[in-house]
Amino acid sequence: MGSIAVCPGSFDPITYGHLDIITRGAKVFDEVYVVVLNNSSKNPLFSVEERIELIKEVTKGIPNVKVDSFQGLLMDYAKRVQASAIIRGLRAVSDFEYEMQITSMNRVLNDDIETFFIMTNNQYSFLSSSIVKEVAKYNGDISELVPPIVETGLRAKFAK
Ligand code: PNS
Repeated sequence: MGSIAVCPGSFDPITYGHLDIITRGAKVFDEVYVVVLNNSSKNPLFSVEERIELIKEVTKGIPNVKVDSFQGLLMDYAKRVQASAIIRGLRAVSDFEYEMQITSMNRVLNDDIETFFIMTNNQYSFLSSSIVKEVAKYNGDISELVPPIVETGLRAKFAK
């Protein structure tokens, strides 16, 4: 069996920053499961189904990427798909404390699954789904931040 990694996140919605991490992760691991999970501290704009559709569309050119969702603990999902690794993106030092906390917790839950961090391309080091939503809400230009289909989805949400 080849190496399997899980790339978890809220993806509300997926940005070019996420896509950068997924693309580079898919060069290292044989299979990458991009999985939409619930972050209990966030109130999502897109439904899980909408987020999955957007991720599927923008990753369709990467053959070893699979898209899924899960209600529960990341480590339970990773075990279920027999992953040996978790991939997370790191943008800046400010991400470090949060990532250390979840990685340490995940290690307590399952010490056999290793977390790997990929540093985001400098171009996207400021980028987050929250910032994109903020700019889109006030009709700002987000064309450099998200793929066209995501931009369309955001415009539709804020037109309501
Ligand atoms: O994109 P995000 O919001 O930074 O991703 C965070 C996410 C969804 C990966 C994290 O909240 C998570 O793993 N949630 C699932 C629940 C879980 O496993 N919690 C234990 C680790 S603290």
